[in-house]
Amino acid sequence: MAGNSGHTIDTLLLTFDDVAILPGLSTVEPHDVELSSRVSRSIFVSTPLVSSPMDTVTEWRMAAALARLGAVGVIHRNMPREEQARHVSMVKSVSPSPWSEVPRIRLPDGLENYSLILEELDAGAAVVFGDDGIKGYLVLERPDAQLWLEKARYLSLYLTRIRPFPTIDGEGRLVVGAAVSPFDLDRARLLEKSGADFLVIDVAHLHNRNALSSLSRLVKEVSIDVVAGNLGTREGVLDTLARAEEVAGLRMGISSGSICSTGEVAGAAVPTLTAVMNAVLALEELGLAGRIPIIADGGVRNAGDAAKAIIAGASAVMGGRLFAGADESPGPRIRVGDKLYKPYRGMASRGAMERRFAVDRYSRQAKAVEEGVEGLVPYTGPVVKTLYELAEGLKAALGYAGAQDVTSAWKAKLARVTPTGSREIRPHDILLG
Ligand code: XMP
Repeated sequence: MAGNSGHTIDTLLLTFDDVAILPGLSTVEPHDVELSSRVSRSIFVSTPLVSSPMDTVTEWRMAAALARLGAVGVIHRNMPREEQARHVSMVKSVSPSPWSEVPRIRLPDGLENYSLILEELDAGAAVVFGDDGIKGYLVLERPDAQLWLEKARYLSLYLTRIRPFPTIDGEGRLVVGAAVSPFDLDRARLLEKSGADFLVIDVAHLHNRNALSSLSRLVKEVSIDVVAGNLGTREGVLDTLARAEEVAGLRMGISSGSICSTGEVAGAAVPTLTAVMNAVLALEELGLAGRIPIIADGGVRNAGDAAKAIIAGASAVMGGRLFAGADESPGPRIRVGDKLYKPYRGMASRGAMERRFAVDRYSRQAKAVEEGVEGLVPYTGPVVKTLYELAEGLKAALGYAGAQDVTSAWKAKLARVTPTGSREIRPHDILLG
């Protein structure tokens, strides 16, 4: 299409509804599909879902609940840095699982290979007890912990059927991420010191010279993983990695969130599906495909969207609205008629920005135009329910795609859907009850 200045517009911005997953030959049953993945170079999860750093979504309760279920949360930054650091510490101090409720067995003397015992007992993980309490946790898929066994006396078993495994660090504590502005080195340092396992850069448009120079400094100052975002284009990813090659993950999607109004207010957007594909292009160009995990961020409404994002090349999917209605999100339940809701708002909405201006001097340099909306989402109960449905839906979707795990899903295929096709693949011609 010709633009009015004579240049051509050859970029197509595809979104989730524009594509469908092409069914492929499946070698495994859906319940055997393996969802383990990474959200950044060194953060492994058994369920590839991440809750957004938003003040109506992720504080310590949500982050702890998700990590217990094998996913992970990112604590928002709309609070003084000391308070955000306290939320991080809270997650690190929560028990990863009700371990004490499972039976203990005495370890045979001189046991050398714990994984053998786990396999024999059909257990996926175990808590290791010494005479004076818990010594650590062993997870079959993460054989990093043989050392603990030397002082261990008992194993307490965590059976495979209780999967997914919690997302835990090397010391058996829950894993947690924290959001930070690229300009806020003090906050980044404090979050690292408080035990944050990874940082997530939290700006609407990271592809900005000042933001990138600050990021380049920040990644050198901290030793934990830093996920960079938000980005939408191939050039954005290339420029980010040129300035900060230490970046350990990419957060992709511009203005596709359910509460975003950037596309409307500023006319700028890269839907999440396209943003993920652009990141893949950039990483392929740099020979880094599959090495730097991509997080698809914004607009994911269900497991089908999440699966499309993964097939497009994402390692994990970030959601705000998906989790905002849960018990574990901050904010009260609100009754409207006979239904319950919870508040949900964009971080660039009026209310969220006012809170940020009050606590964070860096944000005063930011633009003052509202690029987000405030509203309500249906109350969804404990987050375990949402997570379970998403995980099962994801497994079913990857099953259709013929993929037995996340990395093989990257080889599966998406196909364009016509507007008429799009109508046909949803419930139609029926009065829905
Ligand atoms: P969902 O669709 O999961 O999207 O609710 C969550 C993501 O939206 C982004 N976000 C915003 N984008 N204005 C925006 O343009 C905002 O006020 C805003 N707040 C959050 C963010 O990437 C989040 O993860």
